[in-house]
Amino acid sequence: MTEHSKVTIPHLIRMKQAGERITCLTAYDWLIAGLLDQAGIEVILVGDSGGMVFSGYESTLPVTMDQMVYHTRAVSRGVGRALCVADMPFLSYQIRPDEAVRNAGRFLQEGGAEAVKLEGGEPVAETVRRLTDIGIPVMGHLGLTPQSIRKFGGYRLRGKSDDEAEELKKDARILEEAGAFAIVLEKIPADLAAGITASLSVPTIGIGAGPGCDGQILVTHDMLGLFESFRPKFVRRYADLASVIRDAVKAYAEDVRSGSYPSKEESY
Ligand code: KIV
Repeated sequence: MTEHSKVTIPHLIRMKQAGERITCLTAYDWLIAGLLDQAGIEVILVGDSGGMVFSGYESTLPVTMDQMVYHTRAVSRGVGRALCVADMPFLSYQIRPDEAVRNAGRFLQEGGAEAVKLEGGEPVAETVRRLTDIGIPVMGHLGLTPQSIRKFGGYRLRGKSDDEAEELKKDARILEEAGAFAIVLEKIPADLAAGITASLSVPTIGIGAGPGCDGQILVTHDMLGLFESFRPKFVRRYADLASVIRDAVKAYAEDVRSGSYPSKEESY
């Protein structure tokens, strides 16, 4: 697999087998998706985290199918090499497998995505099986699953007790057996994530799950320092774009107020 060839699901499986780490980030629009793709990221997730960092909701729960299809269409137009995965929003896949098929199909048909992601283990296994059987690849998501935030009562670490850890291991096995091509592990102890990773033949993608996963994902607006409302310990900031933007906007406003913008050269 050369650095420039299109990322496919078999490519990701081969990366796991070769011990090559998989890079993943989120995008919600064409422009950022294009930049991530040009930088060589393997998987671009149109996350329902966009409900928080793009739309300003307090959780991902209000996000709708129509909003996610809109974002997915924009992102997929910006992506050339990466695998484009669309996140299924709350209530778009939990009610009945046939509704999940219809909604997941929209992401491929209208959104241009190549796969979907959904949250949960055993309770969604039948749906994962149905989707993969008809050719819609599914990425699973276990651990701190944000659509269950009302049940959890907060964003705390999952899988800390023996019971929770056993349930996560079982759910990971069930998702793999149901056909999931990869599994996101969010905010669980590093040892547990490493153990699950070693037990599976499909890649795990960690977020707050330590270095033992086959790949890592972050919310792009977090790692670029654009989203400032809260910052979990697992987020490493690679830029402070919020300050860059504020400073640039202040400089522009000053120039407009002082009359130094536009200059003669910037006028017709
Ligand atoms: O919605 C999202 O961005 C996600 C990732 C953080 C895994 O689910």
